[in-house]
Amino acid sequence: MRALQQTSRHGPADLRLVDIARPTAGPGEILVRVTAAGVNFADVMQTYSTYVDGPTAPYVAGFEAAGEVVALGPGVTSFAHGDQVLGIGPGAFAEYLVLSTSAAMPLPRGWSGEQSLGLMLNWATALAALRLGRVAAGETVLVQAAAGGVGQAAVRLARHFGTTVLATASPAKHQLVRTAGAHEVFATVPDRRIDVILESVGGPDFARSLAAARPITGRVVVYGMAGGDATVTNRALNFRPVQLIGLHLGVLMAEAPDLFAELLDELTGLIAAGVIPPGSPTTYALADGPAALAALESRSTVGKLALRP
Ligand SMILES: NC(=O)c1ccc[n+]([C@@H]2O[C@H](COP(=O)([O-])OP(=O)(O)OC[C@H]3O[C@@H](n4cnc5c(N)ncnc54)[C@H](OP(=O)(O)O)[C@@H]3O)[C@@H](O)[C@H]2O)c1
Repeated sequence: MRALQQTSRHGPADLRLVDIARPTAGPGEILVRVTAAGVNFADVMQTYSTYVDGPTAPYVAGFEAAGEVVALGPGVTSFAHGDQVLGIGPGAFAEYLVLSTSAAMPLPRGWSGEQSLGLMLNWATALAALRLGRVAAGETVLVQAAAGGVGQAAVRLARHFGTTVLATASPAKHQLVRTAGAHEVFATVPDRRIDVILESVGGPDFARSLAAARPITGRVVVYGMAGGDATVTNRALNFRPVQLIGLHLGVLMAEAPDLFAELLDELTGLIAAGVIPPGSPTTYALADGPAALAALESRSTVGKLALRP
């Protein structure tokens, strides 16, 4: 099968199209013929080996895909041949992908694979961040990188939950973020008193986020670091107290499976209610994966990106 293999730790330019053997499904696994693979910021980080516990080159890149079940591993009864599914598992930038049944879900009725990309990563991450941040109607929420995959999802959900939605994005993307539902959009963290901050940028913005969170009751949910590392000291939290909450969806799935199941149930309800619409990702051919990841890295993209094998 054709697959995109990362061959170094020097970034997306070293992703190569290769021909490798089709994987086989083991116990509790399904083999999926990929129709669309989701591109995520973590894919960019992995190409530089900056993703904690990420794979070491050479590896088949990607970890989110939709497609059709073509083989069942021993003992699998929850899926059948021909099912259309979405899932998370390593090696998604390829014609075939093995998924654990616990990391796969059926596509919403009537949605294509491409339209479903992002449900388990972008929307689940956005919802988890808002839930862990205990967001309540009437509060003010700040969504960083709001034009991106997770960002647009978070803006829509925060608006649906009755909050005042502030957002940050590169200036050229501000109108799009307003259209997605943000009340106000800024180039960087604004000097306001904010109840819940969805912190995915880090770097120098991290200190600004801590400063903008409402003292004592303000929650800062940390789930990304697109702008780099940042530190927080016990002195800072002692004398400028805010609530810091960490989020990693993979850890949440492994360590809090009941909470993840609740999030998926809530997402299903939000889809049925029309709050979450089918996605319309910007799609690249598999061979153009290096260009897709480079575009995401350069901050020139909006919304979800996908690869078509
Ligand atoms: N913890 C988890 O489980 C989890 C799960 C999914 C995603 N995430 C994180 O959530 C974030 C969004 O992920 P995504 O896949 O949806 O990507 P994305 O938002 O589509 O792309 C990342 C965005 O971050 C901003 N950005 C990129 N480089 C930056 C830099 N050097 N400084 C400041 N901002 C920068 C850019 O937005 P602007 O140009 O508009 O600022 C860019 O569009 C990422 O940080 C990702 O790692 C975490």
